[in-house]
Amino acid sequence: MAKFNVYVTRLIPVEGLTLLREACNVEINPEDRPLTREELLKNVRGRDGVITLLTDRIDGEVMDAARGIKGFANYAVGFDNLDVKAATERKIPLSNTPGVLTLATAEMAWTLLFAVARRLIESDKVMRSGTWPGWGPMQFIGGDVTGKTLGVVGAGRIGTAMALMSKGFAMRVLYTDEVANPVLERELGARKVPFEELLRESDFVSVHVPLMPATRHLFNAGTLALMKPTAYLINTSRGPVIHEAELVEALRGNVIAGAALDVYEFEPKMVPGLAELTNVVLAPHTASATRSSRSGMSVKAATNLLAMLRGERPPDCLNPEIYG
Ligand code: DGY
Repeated sequence: MAKFNVYVTRLIPVEGLTLLREACNVEINPEDRPLTREELLKNVRGRDGVITLLTDRIDGEVMDAARGIKGFANYAVGFDNLDVKAATERKIPLSNTPGVLTLATAEMAWTLLFAVARRLIESDKVMRSGTWPGWGPMQFIGGDVTGKTLGVVGAGRIGTAMALMSKGFAMRVLYTDEVANPVLERELGARKVPFEELLRESDFVSVHVPLMPATRHLFNAGTLALMKPTAYLINTSRGPVIHEAELVEALRGNVIAGAALDVYEFEPKMVPGLAELTNVVLAPHTASATRSSRSGMSVKAATNLLAMLRGERPPDCLNPEIYG
């Protein structure tokens, strides 16, 4: 039987590729970089299925170039790079990779939280420069964590996991979400509060909302000004949730104490001034970059794509209504 013809827009861990190769001829972008728009449009042509990355914008134009395609499986839980409406109109299934990166991303939020609170990057730089003069009572004084208030913006899978990890630090937990989160309320005595209240009360604000029109620039000059001057902002969700230029101004003006970011508004670029600040910690969108998380993502993406190729509804379908 003829094998399906599948394209993968950039090399992903082998586990998913092995699954795909059992039923498909698999071609992978040979370059270790995102495809250009032209390359993307060219390479989706004539494929039965494509595994896409968050750096690929999959819109109506790409879908039309991929005429006859059986589905796109996104290798990410976030899917703001996919035009779900355009796919649904064309009856093309889409999927993402929820679940397998929850703990890795929550752990990264904590990594960033501690790094910024305890000024780890600044300290590391001094040690490497060979200029540390020895112990000093006033050096690198940072923020306390235990007993402080954690504000979780978006209490979905990742926000919930992040909040639950606060147990060891006896934190008071506030959260925002569209719906109440009984797990957080039962396990931590967490309280669902309005966004503004969370900003005013929290010592650490950790962002876990998806990017959509309602969350774009949720953090801007106005909302940042509601935070305590001693508070820290941690973002492992999507860059455009924060107005990055206004964050730079807030950090420069000590409106807040610091920020730790894994994601950026204009990836892979940062807005001018961000990298010069000492009260920020900057990671290169690696929250899901653990061995088990990334191999889990590759297996999920492959499993979803294989279901689409068989004409079945994929387990993590983003537009199930097309199976109506
Ligand atoms: C996602 O999955 O959305 C992350 O941003 C990358 O793993």
